[in-house]
Amino acid sequence: MKTTETKKPGTKKAPASKTAAKQTSAKTSTKQTTSKDKTVKAKSDAAEGLRELFIDSLKDIYWAEKALTKALPKMAKNATSENLITAINEHLTVTEGQVERLEQVFEILGEKASAKKCDAMEGLIKEGESIMEETQEGAVRDAGIISASQKIEHYEIASYGTLAAFALTLNEEEAAALLQQTLEEEKEADTILTEAAYNTINFDATEEDQQEEE
Ligand SMILES: [Fe+2]
Repeated sequence: MKTTETKKPGTKKAPASKTAAKQTSAKTSTKQTTSKDKTVKAKSDAAEGLRELFIDSLKDIYWAEKALTKALPKMAKNATSENLITAINEHLTVTEGQVERLEQVFEILGEKASAKKCDAMEGLIKEGESIMEETQEGAVRDAGIISASQKIEHYEIASYGTLAAFALTLNEEEAAALLQQTLEEEKEADTILTEAAYNTINFDATEEDQQEEE
């Protein structure tokens, strides 16, 4: 940007001190504009970066939900408590709805729905499988299934909380509302699992352990 003033012919020469002041002020205003430009650019770069991270995280949770639709039936098959079996099967139906809701979110954002392997969910599911293999069928295995499921739910609660916040920051209100809806469902599932654990399973598991010790 041009900062020096063109002196008009016949213009009275300003005193040296005033000229210096003008130059300083011109320099300052140039500096301010530049830093403002930089801030705007940094913000737009950040928004672009956040959008990329948002889409990437959506792909991650999309993979995770799909993997869960395969893992939940195995958990239900391994569970003994009727309450727990019902809770898992109901959550399977909810999860299938969540997969469709994520597809809606991708559509709103003008992105193709695609899954990217989620290492965290893969690990949590594997941990659940090991627990089922290492425990005897009955109350103890049920307690193990609940513990693995709650770790999964907490991962999902953290993920959807972040995703809804990202969507709001990016002014994607419709997507944010859908992600918030899933977040509420995950919290509800966690509460149901906690109730299942306190009301029956963990109590029975303790009894089984005591019987084994006797
Ligand atoms: Fe889910």
